[in-house]
Amino acid sequence: MTSTKDMKITIIGLGYIGLPTAAIFAKSGMTVLGYDINEKVINALNQGKIIIEEPGLEDLVNEVVEEGKLKGISKLEEADVFIISVPTPINKDKTANMDYVRKAAESIVPVLRKGNIVVLESTSPPESTEKIILPILGKSGLDIGEEVFVAHSPERVLPGKIIQELIESDRIIGGINEKSAQLVKDLYSVFVKGEIFTTDSKTAEMCKLMENTYRDVNIALANELAVTCEEMGINAWDVITLANRHPRVNIHQPGPGVGGHCLAVDPWFIVERQIKGNIIKLARETNDNMPNHILDKLKEIFPDGNAKISILGLTYKPNIDDMRESPIVNLVKLLKENTRFTLSLHDPHACKENFELGNLMLDSLYDVVKDADLMILAVNHNEYKNIDFKKVAKLMKDKHIYDTRNFLDEASLKDLGFKITLLGRD
Ligand SMILES: NC(=O)c1ccc[n+]([C@@H]2O[C@H](COP(=O)([O-])OP(=O)(O)OC[C@H]3O[C@@H](n4cnc5c(N)ncnc54)[C@H](O)[C@@H]3O)[C@@H](O)[C@H]2O)c1
Repeated sequence: MTSTKDMKITIIGLGYIGLPTAAIFAKSGMTVLGYDINEKVINALNQGKIIIEEPGLEDLVNEVVEEGKLKGISKLEEADVFIISVPTPINKDKTANMDYVRKAAESIVPVLRKGNIVVLESTSPPESTEKIILPILGKSGLDIGEEVFVAHSPERVLPGKIIQELIESDRIIGGINEKSAQLVKDLYSVFVKGEIFTTDSKTAEMCKLMENTYRDVNIALANELAVTCEEMGINAWDVITLANRHPRVNIHQPGPGVGGHCLAVDPWFIVERQIKGNIIKLARETNDNMPNHILDKLKEIFPDGNAKISILGLTYKPNIDDMRESPIVNLVKLLKENTRFTLSLHDPHACKENFELGNLMLDSLYDVVKDADLMILAVNHNEYKNIDFKKVAKLMKDKHIYDTRNFLDEASLKDLGFKITLLGRD
C-alpha cells in the first residue's frame, strides 16, 4: 500500500471546508486535486485565487498551486483518497438535504479502485455514512470495508480561524470498521496537531451534531429565562451573572434568536432521526420564536402600528458578514409581513446585494436612525461600541432604544435622555 505521505488526495467540494483542507494537505507535501462542480471555483483555484473570504487562505492556496501541489480539476480521476466536503443544507421540512452528498459519492464510483480511502466530512444525520455512502460505493463492485476504507470525519472549525483550527483542534474519525478508522487517522495525522480520536461512523456523526445542539439547547434555556423574567419583572442578565457564580453553572446569553448554518441547522439532523425525545426540537423552536417575541414587544410598544423603527445589525452573529439563517433577517421579514412600521436597516458588515430587503439598508447609521421612534440594537458588532449617541439623540424622533443584547451602557444613555427597553427584563 502507498505510504500516507505519497498518497494522491482528491477533495470533492472546495468551499469553506474543502478548500482549506485541500491547501493544508498540499502544504504538508501531499499531491492534492480539488474537484468542484462550480467552474468559477476551479478557474480561480488554478490561478492561485479563491472566491470565498477566509483570512490567510488565498496566500496558502497561491503558494501550493504555484508549487504544483494543488490543482483544480473538472472531472474526477483515480486517486488514493477521496474526501467529500459538499454542502448539507436543510430542506423546508427541516430534514437534511443529502442530495449533494449522494451526487458526490456517485461521482467517485467510476474511478474507485482497490485500496482507496473515502472520507465524508460533510455534517450529516446519524447513520448517513452507513446508509447513504456505503450502498453507493458498493455499486463499484468492490468490497467496502475490506478493499475500500470509509470514515466520517466531521469539521468543527470557526469561520475566520479555519486554517488554525483545522490544524490545532482535536479531530474525531468515525470508521465503518477499525481498519478504516486507523487509515484515516494516519491520513489526518499528516497535519493535525490536536489529538485524533477514533470511533465508529455513527458516533462521529452524532458527536458533531451534539456539539452544536448542546449550544443551541443552552441558548434556548437562556432565551426562556429571558422571556420568563420579562413576565415576572426580573432582570435575566442579573440572574445569569449571579447564578453563574455557582461553580458548576454556566447559563448562556439570551438574544433575538440563533442563526448561522450550523447551530440553527444541525440539531434538526438529530430530530429527523429521533423516535422519542422533545428537548432538541423544543430548543430549536424556542430560539426560532425569538423574532416573534420581539415582534410582540414592538406591537406592545406601538399598539397603533405607526412608527419608524431602525434596526442595527443584520448578521447572525457579531463582526461577520454572514446572514445565513439570521434571526434578524427573519425579524425584518416578520415586520414587513405583519406590521405597518417604517423600517430602516444598518449593518457595517452585511452586503445589500445578499439580502432581498437590501433596499431598506443605508450606509450611514446616522441616516438610519433619523426620525426613528425606536432603535433596535440587534447585533453587537464592535462598531456599535463607538456610536455617537449625542448625535443619535438629536436625530431620533423619540429617544427610545431596544437593546436585545445587553450591549449598551444604559446609565450613560439615560443621562442623554434615552428610554431603554432591555430584552430579558422589560
Ligand atoms: N463552513 C463551516 O464553517 C462549516 C463548519 C463545520 C462543518 N461544515 C460542513 O461542511 C460541509 C461543507 O460546508 P462548506 O461551508 O464548505 O460548504 P460551501 O457551500 O462553502 O462549499 C461547498 C462546495 O461544494 C461544491 N459542490 C456541491 N456539490 C458538489 C459535487 N457533487 N461535487 C463537487 N463539488 C460540489 C460547491 O460548488 C461548493 O463550492 C457542510 O456539510 C457543512 O455543514 C461547515
